[in-house]
Amino acid sequence: MKSGRSFIVIEGIDGSGKTVQSKKLVRWLNKTGFKSCYTKEPTNGSIGRILKKMAKMANVDVRVEALLFAADRLDHLNRVVLPSLQKGYIVVSDRYVYSSLAYQSVTTNDPEWVAEINKFAYKPDLAILLDVKPSIGLSRIKKYRVRFEEEEFLEKVREKYLEIAVKDGLKIVDASRSIEEVFQEIIQVVENFLRID
Ligand SMILES: Nc1ncnc2c1ncn2[C@@H]1O[C@H](COP(=O)(O)OP(=O)(O)OP(=O)(O)O)[C@@H](O)[C@H]1O
Ligand SMILES: [Mg+2]
Repeated sequence: MKSGRSFIVIEGIDGSGKTVQSKKLVRWLNKTGFKSCYTKEPTNGSIGRILKKMAKMANVDVRVEALLFAADRLDHLNRVVLPSLQKGYIVVSDRYVYSSLAYQSVTTNDPEWVAEINKFAYKPDLAILLDVKPSIGLSRIKKYRVRFEEEEFLEKVREKYLEIAVKDGLKIVDASRSIEEVFQEIIQVVENFLRID
């Protein structure tokens, strides 16, 4: 059995179930005897807070936003992820660099530049992509009717995620099923990764 010190990331479009599944995974890992902690991006740190403030503003330059996501990520690595890994935790992050490689590549239409500004974000040990159709993801998080443009945007992000998953070896999990069914598959992937017999 592997000891801790693993960096696991959960990715996917809005409403794919990242937060629910990451938290369930951390609870399961701790119950199974691993020291594990939950963390997320954007963070609640100073750069993350600027990001969230900007998300509410109109006409934000998409490049400024991409740079802030990258800066928040570096801050997250330095402040939370690396120290926790050093203490022997399995760190589970709800979103990581693949979120920028997917969303910001679509918003800026410049994937090379997005990859460049995120060069420091080293590869996690395991990355899981919760794949779901935007109409399903959005129906889980929106009380009101979904704007067509929003669904169209997320369709592009989803395509980008799938492209990255094939290229970078993310494990794709069909997230259109029930929370429990999705979780069972995540556990299988993680058990396989940790080689628990
Ligand atoms: N497989 C599922 N089936 C039905 N409902 C789900 C499923 N997964 C999550 N949900 C519900 O959908 C909502 C969104 O889930 P969650 O917050 O985990 O998504 P998310 O990917 O973190 O979204 P965001 O990108 O907005 O942070 C929650 O109310 C959650 O309980
Ligand atoms: Mg979430």
